[in-house]
Amino acid sequence: MKIVLAYSGGLDTTVAIRWLKETYHADVISVSVDVGQKDDFKKIEERAYVAGASKHYLIDAKEEFAEKFAFKDVKMNGLYEEVYPLATALARPLIAEKVAQVASAEGTDYVAHGSTSKGNDQVRFDLALKTALDNVKIIAPARIWKMTREDEIAFAKEKGIPIKTESSKYSIDENLWGRSIEGDIISDPSIEVPEDAFELTQVRKNDRLRLNIEFDRGVPVKINGEKMNPSGIISFLNDEIGARGFGRVEHLENRVVGFKSREVYEAPAALALIAAHKDLEKTVLTPSELRFKREIDMLWSDLVYQGLWYEPLREVLDKTGDELNRWVSGEVKIEVDNKSLRILGRSSPYSPYSEKISSYNKGWYPTDEEARGFIEIWGMHSLLARKARSE
Ligand code: ARG
Ligand code: SIN
Repeated sequence: MKIVLAYSGGLDTTVAIRWLKETYHADVISVSVDVGQKDDFKKIEERAYVAGASKHYLIDAKEEFAEKFAFKDVKMNGLYEEVYPLATALARPLIAEKVAQVASAEGTDYVAHGSTSKGNDQVRFDLALKTALDNVKIIAPARIWKMTREDEIAFAKEKGIPIKTESSKYSIDENLWGRSIEGDIISDPSIEVPEDAFELTQVRKNDRLRLNIEFDRGVPVKINGEKMNPSGIISFLNDEIGARGFGRVEHLENRVVGFKSREVYEAPAALALIAAHKDLEKTVLTPSELRFKREIDMLWSDLVYQGLWYEPLREVLDKTGDELNRWVSGEVKIEVDNKSLRILGRSSPYSPYSEKISSYNKGWYPTDEEARGFIEIWGMHSLLARKARSE
C-alpha cells in the first residue's frame, strides 16, 4: 500500500508520516508544494526521510499560485467577511491538485493530509481531492488519532524524529498571498494579539512609501513603471508594504464547521492590491455594474472560503468577473507609512470620468429648465408617496 501525504514539514504532518507508516504498514510518499511559504525545503525533505517517508516530492507551484489563484482574488476583490483575503483557502485546492497528480503517477488511491476535524482546511482538501481523483481514499490522521500537541511532541521524541525546533506556539499557515495565525493566546478574542504573532508586518522602515501600481484587465502588471511577473509583484509588495507595518487583519471569523474562531492574518500585498483594484473598478465601471460586481465578489469569496472551489458557479462568477475586468486597466497611486495605506489618485483610459462634465468652472452645465425637469420627475415617486400617506 502506498499513501501520498500532503507534507508541510510541520509537527502534525511529520508525526503523520510515521503514524501512517506504522498504522497502515504503508509506504508513505510525502509531497511538499511550494506556494511561496518561507521554508527551507531541503530541511523539510530531510525531515520527511528521517520520519520514515520512502519517497519525497517537492513541487514548485509559486507562479501558478500567483497567477491562477492570487490574481483571481484581486479580480474578484476576494475578502471573506469583508476582511480576510483568503490566502489559506486559495492554496488548498492547488496543493490538493498537485498531491492528486503524484497519487496518479504513483498508481495509488490513498491520499493523506494533516487537517483536523475542527477546521475549514479538511473541507477544502477533501473536496478538491474528490474532484481530482474518482476513487480517492482520504486519510486525515489528525481526525483519527487522539493526540494533543504534547502527545505529538512525545511521539516524535520517542521515535527519534527531529521536529522543527523553532516551532511556534501558534498554528501558522503561510504562502505568497498571506500568513494565517491562530491558536494559543490568540484564541481569547477579548485580548490584544501579541506582537510576537506577527512577522511580515513588523515595522522595519519609518519612511513614506509611494507606489504607482499599473493594472491590465484587472491584474497588476507594473510597479513604478517596472514590469514584473505575478509572484514578483506579490513578494515585492509583501516586503515593502509589510516593512511599513500595513497588512494586518484581526477578526472573529465564522468557520464552515459551525463555530466562530479568532483569526489573525498578515497580507500586505493582498490588501494593497485589492484596495487599489477596487478603486480602479470604481473609476471604470457603471454604478449598476459596480453594484452587481460587489455582490458577485462576496458570493465568490464565500465559495472559496467554504471549500467550494470546484462548484460550477465559481467558474461562472470568474468568467463574469473577467468580462467586467476587461476595462479595469490603468494606474493607481498609493502611499504607505506607519501601518496605514492611502490611495492618492488613479487614472484609466476606460474611465467615463470627464473633468469637463464634473467641473464647476468650465464646460457643460444643464440649463435651469433641464435641471428642474429632471428633479421633478426623479423625485416624483417619493413626493407622491408622502402625499398619499399624509393623514
Ligand atoms: N481560518 C483560516 C482559513 O480558514 C486560516 C486557516 C489557517 N490554517 C492553519 N493551519 N493555521 O482559511
Ligand atoms: C486545521 O484544523 O487543520 C487548521 C485550521 C482550519 O482549517 O481552519
